[in-house]
Amino acid sequence: MKILLIGSGAREHALARKIMESSSTVSLLCYGSSINPGIAPLVSHYIPGEMSDIMGMVQCAQNHEVDMVVVGPEAPLASGIADELHKHGIACIGPSSDLAQIETSKAFGRDFVQAIAAQYVPRYRQFQAQDPQALEFLESLGQDFVLKADGLCGGKGVKISGEQLHSHQQALDDPICQEPFVIEEKCTGVEFSLISFCDGAHAKHMPIIHDHKRLLDDDQGPNTGGMGTISDHDHHLPFIDPDMIQQAQALNELVMKSLSEKCAKPYCGFLYGGFMQSTKGLKLIEYNARLGDPEGINLLALLETDIVAIFEAMIAGRLDQQEVVFKTQASVCKYIVPSSYPGALDCDPLMDISAIERPERLYFGSIDMQGDQLRMKGSRAIAVLATGDTLCEAALRAEETCELVQGSVYYRKDIGSESLLQKRAETLITKVTT
Ligand code: GLY
Repeated sequence: MKILLIGSGAREHALARKIMESSSTVSLLCYGSSINPGIAPLVSHYIPGEMSDIMGMVQCAQNHEVDMVVVGPEAPLASGIADELHKHGIACIGPSSDLAQIETSKAFGRDFVQAIAAQYVPRYRQFQAQDPQALEFLESLGQDFVLKADGLCGGKGVKISGEQLHSHQQALDDPICQEPFVIEEKCTGVEFSLISFCDGAHAKHMPIIHDHKRLLDDDQGPNTGGMGTISDHDHHLPFIDPDMIQQAQALNELVMKSLSEKCAKPYCGFLYGGFMQSTKGLKLIEYNARLGDPEGINLLALLETDIVAIFEAMIAGRLDQQEVVFKTQASVCKYIVPSSYPGALDCDPLMDISAIERPERLYFGSIDMQGDQLRMKGSRAIAVLATGDTLCEAALRAEETCELVQGSVYYRKDIGSESLLQKRAETLITKVTT
């Protein structure tokens, strides 16, 4: 079996490792915009190329006669990699561009879910660039609003009142409003994500997971791509009501089926629902058409079932007949970043991991190997993943490994800690009673 993996970050390192654990004989190829030092030793061919070069990816799949392509990032999905592969009879784990609009257009995503499950959608309206009517809607929301660019913005397309925005005028002056945009009500509560394997008719859900978006301990500092993620041994989270998980699972299934019907083609790939357990019940924050980063690192480390068998079942539309089992263990993932992150690289780029005796805990992201030296490139460099019987145990193990990394680096110490879990549990109680 020949599999082509698209992407070269830590999420794709996790995918590559999982694919190579398969009991099938797999020859893995990677098409990526950089050479990931973790992926390189796992693949038979490493093809450097831009994520925008869809025809380059298709040509690569054709030249190497691959059996399937697994897409990591959202950009090639938005540009239609799955559509082009299907034209050439090549199977793809990742939805076609019309299905992927659930992530790639915020307005499409909101309108779609509003039509099938309005109770989960915060109040919202979409606007064209510099639309003067936006002020009236902002005024109707008061001080609690969120501004979202309609299209993909590489993680920079969302700004929240009280965080990056402090007045209606500041919102209207923001560069986001220079292109089509969405304004929505800001909800209060605790976030969690639910990612499902999907074949268009059936979904198999992963354990729920919680991301830590702020740079600094105790949720301080600027937002980032995600500093780390936790999942618990029972596949729930101590601060999330089990009823919310059931509703999120039902919504992921409904969205997958309704999207597949609307577009008259099966949604074959990962469907990532970002949810909030809010003071007004379950609310949908966003959908993504891919595996999360770093969420996928936790979840693939816990996956017991052969991922290639799952992919084959997804492609054949028989996911309902495929067992999908996750370890009943907790997991904690922490990203090691350059001390200048999320700004441009402005510190010594060298990182030394030679003291780490558990390399299986490391997933390489924005980092190059030059000779025998690891050089950070500026963004999230290495993800450290540990599992344990409890969240506390997993957090301690992740911390032990993080402490051994040498260099001008930073990571959050509090991810998975008892005190942060307690703070999450108290968020809703405080908001409901005040
Ligand atoms: N960690 C958030 C994301 O992958 O979108």
